[in-house]
Amino acid sequence: MKLYYSPASPFARKVHVTLIELGMQDAVELLFTPVLPGKPIEDYVKSQNPLGKIPALQIDSGETLFDSTIICEYLDSISPATRLLPAEGIQRYRTLTRQALAHGICESVVAIRYETFLRPEERQWDVWIADQWSKADRALSWFETHQPLWQGDIDLAQITLGCALGYLDFRAPEHDWRSNHPILQHWFETFSQRESFQATLPHA
Ligand code: BEZ
Repeated sequence: MKLYYSPASPFARKVHVTLIELGMQDAVELLFTPVLPGKPIEDYVKSQNPLGKIPALQIDSGETLFDSTIICEYLDSISPATRLLPAEGIQRYRTLTRQALAHGICESVVAIRYETFLRPEERQWDVWIADQWSKADRALSWFETHQPLWQGDIDLAQITLGCALGYLDFRAPEHDWRSNHPILQHWFETFSQRESFQATLPHA
C-alpha cells in the first residue's frame, strides 16, 4: 500500500500513528505529497484524490481510499491486532463522535494556519479566524469536562485528539491550549510519549 502524506499534516499523522499502533507500518510506503491551497498537484489530483487533500491510501487493488477517518477505519478493519474502533453498538458511535470532534479541532486550526500563513495580512478576516478559534476552544473544553468518556484504552478518537494537540503545539504554540485545560495537558503528557507519537512528530 502507498500512503500519500506530509509530516506537517495532523490528518496524515493520524493515519501514520494508526499504522504504527496496529503494527502495520511495514505494509505501507510513505510518499511525501506537499499540498497547499491554490497549488494542486496535477498527477495526484488526477490519479489519487480529486479533492487534492492528503492523506490518501492506495491499497493493493490499486483503489485509493480517503479521507483520514475512512483510512483509519479501513486499517482497523483489516488489522489482525488491536481494535481501535469498537465493532458495533453505541460504543462505536461514541468513539466516532469523539473522533469527529477532535478532527474538527484539526480542521479549524489548519484553516487558521492557511489564513494567517498564506493570505496577505491586510486581506485576513479576523472575525472568521476568531470563529475558528472558538470552535477549537469549545471542542477542547468538551474533552476537558468529559474526561471519563474518552480516557481508557487507546482508540481512534484519542489518536485524533493527540494529533490535534500536537498540531496546536506545532503551528500555534502561542495559543497555549494547556493553560485552560489541565486534564488534557496531563493526559497528553503521558499519551504523547507513545512510540507511535514520538516517531511521527510533525515537521515542515
Ligand atoms: C501544515 O503545514 O501545517 C499542513 C500541511 C498539510 C496539511 C495540513 C497542514
